[in-house]
Amino acid sequence: MDKKVTVIGAGNVGATTAQRLAEKELCDVVLIDIVEGVPQGKSLDLMEAAPVEKHDAKITGSNGYEESAGSDIVIITAGLPRKPGMSRDDLISTNAKIMSGVTKEVAKHSPDAILIIVSNPLDAMCHVAFDACGFSKNKVIGMAGVLDSARFRAFIAMELNVSVENTHAFVLGGHGDTMVPLPRYSTVAGIPITELMSRDRIDALVDRTANGGAEIVGLLKTGSAFYAPASAVVEMAESILKDKKKILPCAAYLQGEYGYDDLFIGVPVKLGKDGIEQIVEIELTDDEKTALDKSAAAVTELKAKLKELA
Ligand code: APR
Repeated sequence: MDKKVTVIGAGNVGATTAQRLAEKELCDVVLIDIVEGVPQGKSLDLMEAAPVEKHDAKITGSNGYEESAGSDIVIITAGLPRKPGMSRDDLISTNAKIMSGVTKEVAKHSPDAILIIVSNPLDAMCHVAFDACGFSKNKVIGMAGVLDSARFRAFIAMELNVSVENTHAFVLGGHGDTMVPLPRYSTVAGIPITELMSRDRIDALVDRTANGGAEIVGLLKTGSAFYAPASAVVEMAESILKDKKKILPCAAYLQGEYGYDDLFIGVPVKLGKDGIEQIVEIELTDDEKTALDKSAAAVTELKAKLKELA
């Protein structure tokens, strides 16, 4: 393949991401982890699946960064996942240390890469990565909104018994309990869901979406979601690798947009070969803006916690 993507963290999210990237023949993949043997074993396993899956992407595993040199995109999933009873924010001190160390290595070996951050707490980890890499703001992107919107879409399709392909949804804000699903901009075949469902049912789906990650953690008990997170990150990578210029909700570094400054938060962006090529500002109602302000305040609080930890 003429494109190269490195996935750091060969756990549940990382390995599933590597599998999806390879099976879609989007790029060659380098899988990196600190645990010896794991990235090598999982890559070999994936290479042995390739003849049956019919793809020619190469997947390499490593504990170092040399193999990753010159990557077009680096996806960072390294870090601890949640256990039942934990919020994403409880992971902050451990994952901040991991994120900072990993990002410095990435910047050294792939100075032109676009970074997609997946580790939680997502918006705070974007700040850590952004500070550690010194890349321009269009090249550091957080994966959250595509996942949260996919969850909302799945629940809309289940509720109305329609194809998921007919659904479209927008979830903005931080990747936490304060995320902001926007029913007004969420549609089935172009029809706003506000025309298709009662207010009560919409509120129930919005609530399930905001707690979608916790619902999976509660069921799995030993870790957090990974199939849908991997799908979401691959949609973002594909838009960049193919320069598709899809508009997707992603965590982006804002400098005045939506009234926030020096803050990573989920907003609609255009993703192409240069990473974030545009931040799309949409009109929000007073209620929506109030909800987004609350979410921004939660991210700001985590940012302050990062300063205390530093
Ligand atoms: N360098 C490289 N890999 C690391 C490092 C590091 N410094 N520290 C930890 N890892 C690896 C672990 O060895 C493990 O294989 O990160 C991997 C994490 O995998 P899992 O424990 O399976 O966690 P996963 O479910 O993949 O979630 C990873 O993404 O969605 C978020 O909240 C989630 O922060 C978590 C991250």
